[in-house]
Amino acid sequence: MKTYTNVKDLGNLQNAVKEALEVKNNRYGYKHLGENKTLLMVFFNSSLRTRLSTQKAGMNLGMNTMVLDINQGAWQLETERGVIMDGDKPEHILEAIPVMGSYCDLIGIRSFAQLNDKTFDYNETIINQFIQYSGKPIFSMEAATGHPLQAFADLITIEEYKKTARPKVVLTWAPHPRALPQAVPNSFADFMNEADVDFVITHPEGYELDEKFVRGAKVEYNQMKAFENADFVYAKNWSAYQDPNYGKILSTDRSWTVSDRQMAVTNNAYFMHCLPVRRNMIVTDDVIESPQSIVIPEAANREISAQVVIKRMLEAI
Ligand code: CP
Repeated sequence: MKTYTNVKDLGNLQNAVKEALEVKNNRYGYKHLGENKTLLMVFFNSSLRTRLSTQKAGMNLGMNTMVLDINQGAWQLETERGVIMDGDKPEHILEAIPVMGSYCDLIGIRSFAQLNDKTFDYNETIINQFIQYSGKPIFSMEAATGHPLQAFADLITIEEYKKTARPKVVLTWAPHPRALPQAVPNSFADFMNEADVDFVITHPEGYELDEKFVRGAKVEYNQMKAFENADFVYAKNWSAYQDPNYGKILSTDRSWTVSDRQMAVTNNAYFMHCLPVRRNMIVTDDVIESPQSIVIPEAANREISAQVVIKRMLEAI
């Protein structure tokens, strides 16, 4: 594997999940792969889970790991070509990327959508520059339009907890005080559309996601109806994708906060969220603290999804 930005990069998804479960049972069995190899993780945005789980995955594989926080201690980077650099950004990303590439064997990138230029975001301008100019395998640690390490961990978790061969999985929008990217719901939809699940998306009108990720999945605007007989509820906020409202908050309707009211019509569903989560905006205390909440094992599986991706990249070097 040379790049990891979406579900297709994993090839056969069933095989990828099988490999993940094997790695989970033998996470130190592949240490030879990373000997004298260096993983560089570049963060343009904050992180708790991705930073720790990906670093742990690299260490499980015997790698040396380095972390660069672009906004804390590194030079501010200009990302546009042709700009006269007389402002506050002293380094251009077109020099910085090959320099970073010269110090390592693999690079993970976190670069959120900026939500003010849909073309810049949906062209995945930052991560694609790393793919083009670093000379090294690149994996997404959440880019502008996708979070495939999260979605892979989500799928592993569903496989571990499902009680029926084809569970009903509901992705629900929930309110949030800030405008958030569509990366997590995009990748979750991308993975669920490839997995053997009955997948339903529910959100207020106006929050339709990019059809490239939705791919004809059922969209139900009535949240209570969507939740009926669900086996898994996956909550997430996102801002509007559709023009002319790209990046905007269209609703703060707290009736969409996941609570016992909605969970009562499910098939005793498990509750999932990628974290960090704003309690009593996205989900009530009672639901996230209930025995049906699997947000902690879901986060723990981030180590496994990262390890499978890094392992496959090391095997291809
Ligand atoms: N879910 C997730 O990616 O968490 P962090 O933003 O803390 O890395």
